[in-house]
Amino acid sequence: MLEFKQHGDDRGHLVVMEEMEDIPFEIKRIFYIYGSDPDVVRGQHANKKSEFVLINVAGTSKVRVDDGKGNEAIFSLNRPHTGIYLPSLVWKDMYDFSKDSVLLCLASEHYDAKEYIRSYDEFIAYMKKDERE
Ligand code: TYD
Repeated sequence: MLEFKQHGDDRGHLVVMEEMEDIPFEIKRIFYIYGSDPDVVRGQHANKKSEFVLINVAGTSKVRVDDGKGNEAIFSLNRPHTGIYLPSLVWKDMYDFSKDSVLLCLASEHYDAKEYIRSYDEFIAYMKKDERE
């Protein structure tokens, strides 16, 4: 988890993220996810190359991370100054979106559909192959 400094005063709060300082990569892409129902599961993929930082800038959600080697962890994103860093080659599910959830995603790569692994079986096979090499 990443904790960003909150610059707050009587006018409200401000959170800053600078690449290679607060974010451990150069930010090439930004997208955000909102309007997902609470029973929706998003993500459900791994990336061969992209690293991400996810921040619920409004509302809340959860992220389940699976390294394909039997380790799984669940993180709650529930504060606008807290993010999670996701390295490449982890399977991720985002779910439990609150109605007001706005999930900001910073990525280390431009979008390339070819670096997305969207089948869990394929991910597991890819990780086994990765281990052998
Ligand atoms: P998708 O990867 O399914 O979203 P999530 O990770 O939340 O499950 O993306 C939804 C659609 O948006 C899909 O058609 C691909 C497109 N998309 C882009 O064109 N560029 C992007 O950077 C991203 C993340 C998605």
